[in-house]
This record gives sequence, C-alpha cells and structure tokens, in this order.
Amino acid sequence: MAKIEKIALIGGGNMGGALAAGWLRGGKRSKVSADKLIVVDPAPGETIQKLAEKHDFTVCEALSLEQAETVDLVVLAIKVQAADTVAAHLKQVMREDTPLLSTIAGVSLNRLSIAFGDRPIMRAIPNTASEIGAGVTVCVANEEGDALEAEITRLLKGAGSVEWVLDERLTGTVGAVSGAGPAYVFLLAEALEGAGVAEGLPRDLAARLARETIVGAGALLASSDKSPQELRRAVTPQGGTAQAALDVLMGSGGGLPELVRQAVAAAERRSRQLASGSGRE
Ligand SMILES: NC(=O)c1ccc[n+]([C@@H]2O[C@H](COP(=O)([O-])OP(=O)(O)OC[C@H]3O[C@@H](n4cnc5c(N)ncnc54)[C@H](OP(=O)(O)O)[C@@H]3O)[C@@H](O)[C@H]2O)c1
Repeated sequence: MAKIEKIALIGGGNMGGALAAGWLRGGKRSKVSADKLIVVDPAPGETIQKLAEKHDFTVCEALSLEQAETVDLVVLAIKVQAADTVAAHLKQVMREDTPLLSTIAGVSLNRLSIAFGDRPIMRAIPNTASEIGAGVTVCVANEEGDALEAEITRLLKGAGSVEWVLDERLTGTVGAVSGAGPAYVFLLAEALEGAGVAEGLPRDLAARLARETIVGAGALLASSDKSPQELRRAVTPQGGTAQAALDVLMGSGGGLPELVRQAVAAAERRSRQLASGSGRE
C-alpha cells in the first residue's frame, strides 16, 4: 500500500477538529502536511477555524470530483444523522478504490460498505484527547482494509496511541470506555471542585486543586508501571483520610465502580440506538 498523504476529513466539529489538530502537531514531523488536508464542513467548529488560520489548509462545503480524485483517504467525522446524506454525495465523487475511515459510533463496517460500496473500510473510535496527541484510538478493518493497518496506525499515532481489534462487536464497549471516557474524568474534576466548595474552599482554589489533582494523577499513571489499583493503595493507608473517602466511594451497592459499570453499559446501549436510527443525538 502506498503512503497515505492526501486526506479529506468530512466533518470539522469536535472529533474532526481533535483529529486534525493531532495530525498537524509536530511541525515538519507532522503526520499530515497542511497542503495535503481538505476539511469538508459547511460550518466548521472553532478548533478547525483556528487550525486553518494557523496552517492554511483547504476548508470547503462539499468535496468536488476533482478533489476526490486526488485524495488517498476519506475520513468521516460527522454525526450518524448526517451519514446517509454524506454517503450519497461522496459515493458519486469518490474513486471506487479510495479507502474510507469512519469515526461514526455504532455504524458497522457492513453498513458502511453498503453505503460506500466495496473498498477498504476502517472504523476508528478515537477520543477528544487526540487534539493534544494524548488520545487513544481503537480501529477495526474490513478484509480489504486489513492491508492498510500499518499506514492507518502511522497516521493515527499523531493523535495518540492506537489499538486494533479483530472483533467489531467490541467497538460499542470501546466507545463507551475510551471514546466517551474523557467526559467521565471531566465530571470527576467537576465533582471534586464542587465538594471542595461545599466543604468551604473558595471556588477558584477548589477548581485549581481539582484540575491539578486530575492532571497530576494522570501523569503519575502515565509514567508509572504500577496498576491503578497499586497506585491507589499506595495513597490509601489503612485508617487514614483517603481510606475514609474510599469507604464512601466503594461503599454499599458497589459505589463508584458499579456506577461506572452502569454508565458504560448505558453509553454502549445508546450507541446501538443511535446507529439503528431509534434515537436522536
Ligand atoms: N466527540 C467525541 O468525543 C467522539 C468520540 C468518538 C467518536 N465520535 C464520533 O465522531 C463523530 C462526530 O462527532 P462530533 O462530536 O465531532 O460531532 P460534531 O461536533 O457535531 O461535528 C460534526 C460536524 O459535521 C458537520 N456536518 C454536518 N453535516 C455535514 C455534511 N453534510 N458534510 C460535512 N460536515 C457536516 C457538523 O456541522 P453542523 O454542526 O453545522 O451540523 C459538525 O461541524 C460522531 O459520529 C461520533 O460518534 C465522537
């Protein structure tokens, strides 16, 4: 497989913006050069607008036949509700062999292949930490897409780490764990700030403490070869203050771990509903 150089990114909202930011990081060592990126979005989000000012790539409302002829990869970062309209247009302009990489949660390889025809098709479940190159993206490919694994991995590594799964059925849970995962961590920061305020801290100090604690714990996790459980135990001496807090968090009814389990199950269910068209995003 030849190197993927020219990319059409369809959808320049939260996810498209995060991916583009990840790809364009690193100056000359960027995974995608700005003159090889076309972002297609009638109303791109703030991240794309700022990136376009800085990097001067093409932003347009629809992919023309001439543009489509030259791209090595089309990436979908649109909501599921826009998928049929987008597919109807793209199928008319894309070359028959142009590979497709979709980030749309819940839309299967099979459904993509019906909409876009037989071609190399990959699905990627990224998250928004891709924007700073700290995302994690999980991919799965159809048979024709298998050969592109190394090239797609190289590209997505600009946005963080990359994993591949063979069983597409795992992608719903992947989306619920790592795709939506940053939202759970941000909620924890909000909750920690709120608890600090409730216990008497000034709001701005509580906000800084909550933020820095999450950032520091994340950095510690990233730099340590210990498991999260080992790291937690190291800061939870028996009978101490952290232990008193964890007795509440891990207390009756399963506590936080059980709540997170239910949250992940709900996210997975929702992705199935959205993909089947029985819900509105
Ligand atoms: N956000 C996440 O954390 C995350 C994580 C994993 C996967 N995903 C997946 O990423 C996809 C995009 O999510 P998102 O959060 O980035 O949504 P989003 O912020 O709404 O971005 C979608 C963008 O596509 C644009 N758009 C609509 N119709 C279009 C068309 N015909 N051609 C080109 N662009 C069009 C939208 O414009 P308008 O706003 O004007 O409609 C919007 O700017 C979803 O399918 C989601 O499942 C997201």
